[in-house]
Amino acid sequence: MPDGLPTEIDLTRPSAARVYDYFLGGAHNFEIDRQLAEQIASMTPNLAATMRSGREFLRRAVRVLLDAGIDQFLDIGSGIPTVGNVHEVAQGVNPKARVVYVDIDPVAVAHSRELLAGNELTGVIHADLREPERILAETQQLGLIDFSRPMGILLAGVVHFIPDGDRPEEILATLRAAAAPGSFLVISHSTFEDQPQEMLDAQRLSARTDTEITLRSRAQVTGFFGDWTVLEPGVVHMPLWRPDSPSDVDEHPERFGAFGGVARYDQPAG
Ligand SMILES: C[S@@+](CC[C@H](N)C(=O)[O-])C[C@H]1O[C@@H](n2cnc3c(N)ncnc32)[C@H](O)[C@@H]1O
Repeated sequence: MPDGLPTEIDLTRPSAARVYDYFLGGAHNFEIDRQLAEQIASMTPNLAATMRSGREFLRRAVRVLLDAGIDQFLDIGSGIPTVGNVHEVAQGVNPKARVVYVDIDPVAVAHSRELLAGNELTGVIHADLREPERILAETQQLGLIDFSRPMGILLAGVVHFIPDGDRPEEILATLRAAAAPGSFLVISHSTFEDQPQEMLDAQRLSARTDTEITLRSRAQVTGFFGDWTVLEPGVVHMPLWRPDSPSDVDEHPERFGAFGGVARYDQPAG
């Protein structure tokens, strides 16, 4: 067990964050995670590419927010800060950008704290997206994000861990209600739409981690933006969301298995 990790980690069960870290080429994972990752990879060889595609979508979305003047980010389900993390992208453009990371996984949180020690414009919170009020209260306590100003709320690859029974639409409504006009919401979310059977089978394996995935339709994902204005090109397969260059888009963008979208809170007139 590496130094500084919390003692409550259950090493007999794989963790979604560490499986993800393994796919991204990170070092913050254990044998149990690598075994599940390899099993998933043998069923769907392009899954590692899918995860990288998710990070790439997040990077492009964060840059669009930075261009719009956003300088504070609440990244929920942030994972292990492996490659191309939000604060690196944001502070690379605006050194004064502030980022609060939130994750349910104690390993992700411990590594985040270790990696971010000394970066005073970042904070880390150990919390569950199913408790949005707590996340908002703890974020306010940290004092990094000014809720009276626009912010970017990032929910990349995390809302699909919330089953319908935990009322994800209410969680999203709570988060949106806390944001000032001009704020942005970024979501990427796994889908069953346009997917081959082997992808659906692999997603089912996620039931072995602490957090099972609920695949959702484009209409359901779009619904999470509520009445905010969804930016062009809408909620689309992730590689199609404002690619850096048309040549970056895979011939089959649907094979990455997830939709991505960004919306802005435009204050209603009057
Ligand atoms: C697929 S990773 C995405 C990481 C990062 N957002 C990205 O896009 O690169 C999903 C992360 O969500 C976290 N997670 C899952 N369920 C969660 C919940 N209920 N509350 C907070 N985080 C959660 C997992 O621990 C994992 O780190």
